Parts: sequence; structure tokens; C-alpha cells
Amino acid sequence: MEKDADTRPPGAADDWTIPQGWDRYSAADHATWDRLFDRQAQMLQGRVVPQFLAGLDILRMDRPGIPDFAALNGRLMAATGWQVVAVPGLVPDRIFFDHLAHRRFPAGRFIRTPEQEDYLQEPDIFHDVFGHVPLLANPVFADYMQAYGRGGLRADGLGAIAKLARLYWYTVEFGLIATDEGLRLYGAGIVSSNAESRFALEDPSPHRLGFDLRRIMRTRYRIDDFQQSYFVIDSFEDLLAQTTQTDFAPLYADLAALPDYDTDSILPGDRVLMCGTQAYARHKEKE
Ligand code: PHE
Ligand code: FE
Repeated sequence: MEKDADTRPPGAADDWTIPQGWDRYSAADHATWDRLFDRQAQMLQGRVVPQFLAGLDILRMDRPGIPDFAALNGRLMAATGWQVVAVPGLVPDRIFFDHLAHRRFPAGRFIRTPEQEDYLQEPDIFHDVFGHVPLLANPVFADYMQAYGRGGLRADGLGAIAKLARLYWYTVEFGLIATDEGLRLYGAGIVSSNAESRFALEDPSPHRLGFDLRRIMRTRYRIDDFQQSYFVIDSFEDLLAQTTQTDFAPLYADLAALPDYDTDSILPGDRVLMCGTQAYARHKEKE
């Protein structure tokens, strides 16, 4: 998502956007996208929230090759008034929040190399566009993302970005959702990762806990490996209502004095849907 203030690369505009330069992708780049797309389209059947698949369809993202933002934006704009804009990589917090607040999603334009197909540190176009954009075609999720951007600008003024970032992490990036058919994936960090798509839903290791705003804001997260806890929302409507109807300022003030929770804690107030064994994380520690 975002990063600390950095110097703007030459050629980027004040808001850090750059042209996508779609004509410059090689045949190998397009082939990488197609391989990743096909693998995830298969993996996500029966695992991802139906609104995600509806988004792929509305945006015609199943067409071969790396999407051209101009064509994608025509459909996305018609669906929810959102747009995708290209950026060189991670952008400073305020720039990131400002884009979201204006219904613009900043996306990296580079694509991973074949050696990086299973894991890469910096978000590339497959993570940013395949992972994040389909749900931006959903009106409720689209509103949540904009509200988050506005909330980010406000949190910056209150010195609370670190707390708010945890909400993004445990929803937009690594969220699970309860449906009538069972738990489903919706977080972009999961749905763009082949291994985590299976792990988050089926592995006995991680905890699955009911969404709790205050609790999430106190919970650390892992940037280096699969999550040890996933938080489950009841619906996008509920996520939007809970976050927009709460004034975060008093919450930030409260939490500033309280300690953080570890990535694998289970607390007395938790709604525990599945108590994980944490076997995966413990095994890794010993290596
Ligand atoms: N209600 C939050 C605030 O008072 C704003 C927000 C909405 C943040 C939705 C995140 C998601 O700051
Ligand atoms: Fe992301």
C-alpha cells in the first residue's frame, strides 16, 4: 500500500502518477499476466467472494494480456466512478490517501518476472489490478475504499496512521468474509497469492476471528509471511457501516496509551470462528 515520504521519481507528476505505457509491455509480460490470471481464476473458484468474480466480469478482466488502464477505466468509471492510475511503486501516505479519497486507485505498472511468480515484496500490477480492482466495481466496497482514503488524511493529522493502516491490512489486504456458503476470501493480498488463497481458508494454522474495529487497530501484522490471524466481516455493508459510523478520533486517543496485541493472540472478547493451531508459524520459527 503506502510508504513513508520519499523523493518523487523524475517524470512523475505532483500526485506521483505516470503514464501506464501499455505499448511497452513485452509478449513475455503479457504471458506472465495470463499465467497468473489463469492460475488464480482456478484457485479462486469456490474460495473468493462472489462480488469479486462479478467484478472480473463487469470489467472484462478475463481478456488475455495485461489490462490497458484506458479501457479498464471506461468500465470501472461506468460501474462506480473509480479509476486506476499508474504510479512507479509505493507512494507516500498522503498521496495514497488523497488518491483513494478521490476514487483513484494507484497501481504499479510493472509486472513480476517469471522467477517472482510465487512471491514478491513490492506490489506489482498483478497484485494491484487483479487483487484490488475487481471489488472497486462493487458500489459498497467502492465507498469503503473512498471513506478509508478520507479517514487516512484525517488520521495523518491525528498522528494515527499506524493504527488505521492495520484496518487496511486486515480488511482490504487480508480480509475474509462470511457468506451463506461459508467463509470466502476478499483481501487483495490473499486473492493475488496462490499459496495464501489456500492457506487463509483451509490451513488449520491461522486463527479466524470476527471483525472488531478496536481490536484490529491494536493488532500487529506480518509483512514477511502468511498472516497468523484473519478477521472475518459479515458483509461489505456491515464493514462500511461500522467504519463510517464510528468517529475514529476518540478511538485513536484511547488506543495511544494501550499496548498492541501480537499477531497470534486470542483475547477474552474475541469472536473465535476457528482457533488456529499456529503450527505453520511455529514450525517456521524453528527453522
Ligand atoms: N470514520 C473514520 C474516521 O472518523 C473514517 C473511516 C471510514 C476510516 C472508513 C476508515 C474506513 O476517521
Ligand atoms: Fe495491496
